[in-house]
Amino acid sequence: MRNKIVAANWKMNQDEYESKNLTYEILKHLHKTNNSSVYKILCVPFPFLNRISNMCEGVNMLFVGAQNCSAFESGAYTGEVSSAMLKSLSISYVIVGHSERRVMFKESDDLILEKMKRLILKQIIPIYCCGEPYAERKKKNHIRYVLNQIEQSICNLKKKEIKKVVIVYEPIWAIGTGITAELEDVQEMHFAIRKFIRSKYGSSISKNLSLLYGGSVNPLNAKQIFDLPDVDGGLIGGASLKSQDFIDIVNSIN
Ligand code: PGA
Repeated sequence: MRNKIVAANWKMNQDEYESKNLTYEILKHLHKTNNSSVYKILCVPFPFLNRISNMCEGVNMLFVGAQNCSAFESGAYTGEVSSAMLKSLSISYVIVGHSERRVMFKESDDLILEKMKRLILKQIIPIYCCGEPYAERKKKNHIRYVLNQIEQSICNLKKKEIKKVVIVYEPIWAIGTGITAELEDVQEMHFAIRKFIRSKYGSSISKNLSLLYGGSVNPLNAKQIFDLPDVDGGLIGGASLKSQDFIDIVNSIN
């Protein structure tokens, strides 16, 4: 289903008290107005998943997600968190392939593919991120670069598996920088991704794909971005740490 989605990526910010407070503030806003046409997902740090899930239980269209998971099933992998563990906490979404993990933790397309397969096996929806560094855009190689990332990972999934994936385009140079991609550049890339998925999997899959944008989305620019024909919502970093900003972004979707 092509769903409208706004996902918060809290990254490695806030302690337990602050996380509960932020969730409480978000819940207060949602109690007043809850845009029920939008899937709202809070992707929070591992230690707080259970508590935040409990706080969010029963709230319409509000879900809790993780920011990573292991590519391995179980066993002697010190420090890893498996998809089965996340499933046991009723986690429904997990971010994979974020550029911070690709760049800082050297995660490869193969590893990202393994993680997605593990998640899909457990009926957890991967929020798959792709995006180019600035040098590739400068060389006008950005579309080829992003489609290659998709080809190397997602395109190894079966038709019934890819139906379960949400894709996020996040140009690396726009993440956390305050520089948002130009609207025509966002639409160009989203159109190219949808077309590519159509060429690989057919039009019914591509039409139903939820395709989000991420990179310095804020309450002032969200509406214009979300109004683009191939954009179905966003993955929000910095602005998701302020409850009012996050809710304003959610309410920017028509
Ligand atoms: P940003 O982060 O909104 O702070 O740019 C987005 C992300 O990394 O998902």
